[in-house]
Amino acid sequence: MNATTTLTKDEVGILLTAATHAPSIHNTQPWRFEIRGPVIDVLLDRKRTLPAADPAGRAARIGIGAAVLNIRVAAAMLGHESSIAPDPDPHHPEVVARIFLADRTTPAPPLARLYGELRRRHTYRGPMLDQIIAARVLERLDEAARAERAILHWLDAGEASRLGELLRRVDDTELHDEDRLHERLRWIGGDRSGDGIPESALGPVPARAAFVRDLSAGFDSPHRSQTVFEQRPALAVLCTPQEDTAAWLRAGMALERVLLVGTSYDVTASFLNQVLEHSTPRAAVRELVGGRLWPQMVMRIGYPAHPGHESSRRDWRESFDQWF
Ligand SMILES: Cc1cc2nc3c(=O)[nH]c(=O)nc-3n(C[C@H](O)[C@H](O)[C@H](O)COP(=O)(O)O)c2cc1C
Repeated sequence: MNATTTLTKDEVGILLTAATHAPSIHNTQPWRFEIRGPVIDVLLDRKRTLPAADPAGRAARIGIGAAVLNIRVAAAMLGHESSIAPDPDPHHPEVVARIFLADRTTPAPPLARLYGELRRRHTYRGPMLDQIIAARVLERLDEAARAERAILHWLDAGEASRLGELLRRVDDTELHDEDRLHERLRWIGGDRSGDGIPESALGPVPARAAFVRDLSAGFDSPHRSQTVFEQRPALAVLCTPQEDTAAWLRAGMALERVLLVGTSYDVTASFLNQVLEHSTPRAAVRELVGGRLWPQMVMRIGYPAHPGHESSRRDWRESFDQWF
């Protein structure tokens, strides 16, 4: 595949369907795509950002990073190498990543093996089984983060308890934050298809304090049951060495790689990112992980006790702008 080669319609469908299965904050799917020959631009869709929860666009770019990783996985499966340029065009800052595809000359990379996990991966917000994750699986997750130049910091009991205090404080404050509540109502709860998080995917309401984020807190969700969650889940903070827009994109690629490798071992995750959506608790989490790295995602990781529920996606054609 050289600079003048064009992707076939089938290839474009496969690559962009893979992209749309990426996780994104509140399932906003804040991406658009443009294709020129073998080059795919992934753009930030400003109509799908969250001014209250994510004013800097950090979380939106993490979601875009996850979509980029999915495109690389699908490209590897199709026999293409891929390379990435973050923020490639200063005149078009909405282009977050440019992906260059080329014919593969080396044996199938490990990314190709993750293709089968793209549709199996879901955020799981129910209780986890009381089952320890084997050390070799934890190593695979660490390797997946490192492959994208990120670090998974696993919390020990003391760090987890300090995180628990931070979570409780942020949850209490958020109950009175009209802007965030209003934004969550726009994207979360009820019956939904295409985007946002339906009530069915919120998981049960925690019967007592737990390491799980109840995204519906502050408004009615009448059909959800109550449950006691595990008290000591495996908790990890996904961190990057830098803090800039390119680091957020990398964090998203690392997040999705960790999640897909986890899925291949039937390990699921949910997120406790409320502590990263406000500057003071985020600084405290940064201290918690040693003060040097930048925390990008707080993850609860484990084996699901019950089947999870999907949040659906828009068709890829709805976010596909142009084909040059
Ligand atoms: C940057 C980012 C932040 C997220 N924060 C949270 C969170 O704090 N709590 C949560 O339950 N899910 C969180 N999620 C997961 C999304 O809600 C989820 O990916 C989206 O609803 C799509 O569902 P799926 O992951 O099941 O495909 C986050 C995802 C991303 C990419």
